[in-house]
Amino acid sequence: MLEGRSLIEPLNFTMEEMDLLFSLAEKIEEDGTYLRESCRGKLLATLFFEPSTRTRLSFEAAMLRLGGSCLGFAEPGSSSTVKGESLADTIKTVSCYADAIVMRNPKEGAALLASRVSPVPVINAGDGGHHHPTQTLTDLLTIRRLRGTGGTAGGIGGLTVGFCGDLKFGRTVHSLAKALARYERISMVFVSPAELKAPGYITGHLEDRRVPFTETESLEKVMGDLDVLYMTRVQRERFFNEEDYIRLKDTYVLNSEKMKNAKKDLVILHPLPRVNEIAPEVDADPRAAYFRQAKYGMYVRMALLSSILGTAEHKGEIPC
Ligand code: CP
Repeated sequence: MLEGRSLIEPLNFTMEEMDLLFSLAEKIEEDGTYLRESCRGKLLATLFFEPSTRTRLSFEAAMLRLGGSCLGFAEPGSSSTVKGESLADTIKTVSCYADAIVMRNPKEGAALLASRVSPVPVINAGDGGHHHPTQTLTDLLTIRRLRGTGGTAGGIGGLTVGFCGDLKFGRTVHSLAKALARYERISMVFVSPAELKAPGYITGHLEDRRVPFTETESLEKVMGDLDVLYMTRVQRERFFNEEDYIRLKDTYVLNSEKMKNAKKDLVILHPLPRVNEIAPEVDADPRAAYFRQAKYGMYVRMALLSSILGTAEHKGEIPC
């Protein structure tokens, strides 16, 4: 089902396919030897035209843990892009060497373009302020593990999810909101300054699907209503001028005082990196789940790679 498929935006996979990935990731988490060596002889290219810690390293860790190998670059200045090579030519070339390509690029739509010229699967590791679908797999798996409903409707449902921070440029927010809209009894609360509101193509998507959502500038007012709080940093690299960034960057800072009004079983997520929007004192709160979330990212990327490379089928897990 997933063998040979690219992942460019969060709705590329059906809910059933996502459920299979989550079940596979849960099995890998339970049994550290599961699918080990299943990707031996396979090569993954990681092409990062923008900085990354979690996405690139968790993909590389995932591939190495599956017995495969990695090649690529983390700094586009060391590639022939600086000589003027087009993205299409780079992808056509790298696909001669690798069995799958993971790419992060500052331009919206770059991953889609890459998938159209590539004979091997392309995974979007972030295209500008647009989408970040493997972060969404990470976020959904974390919600399922920490606030899951069991077997019903994909294991996620009946939750009020708050998104706080830079909802305009935050691609992880765009991808997760679109993906969550497919689950039952989800409502969303968007908390941002007026200048950093969620874009119309996301709120329009929710309206089309009749998913209830509200927008506010006050985190304090809604804190007690939330089951999941998804904090985000203000995306400095996407601002046109530094003054606006400096004015907006510390609009929201989650600290222990604000946590007093939150539900006892709230789950605090953050795609990371964090800058100043969650005080370090919150890390010790059992509701802070962002470092567990980073670990789930590796498990779900192991499940994804073994599925698109067709190596999970040998275990009878994914109908490839
Ligand atoms: N969450 C995330 O995309 O982190 P990195 O930018 O470190 O990859």
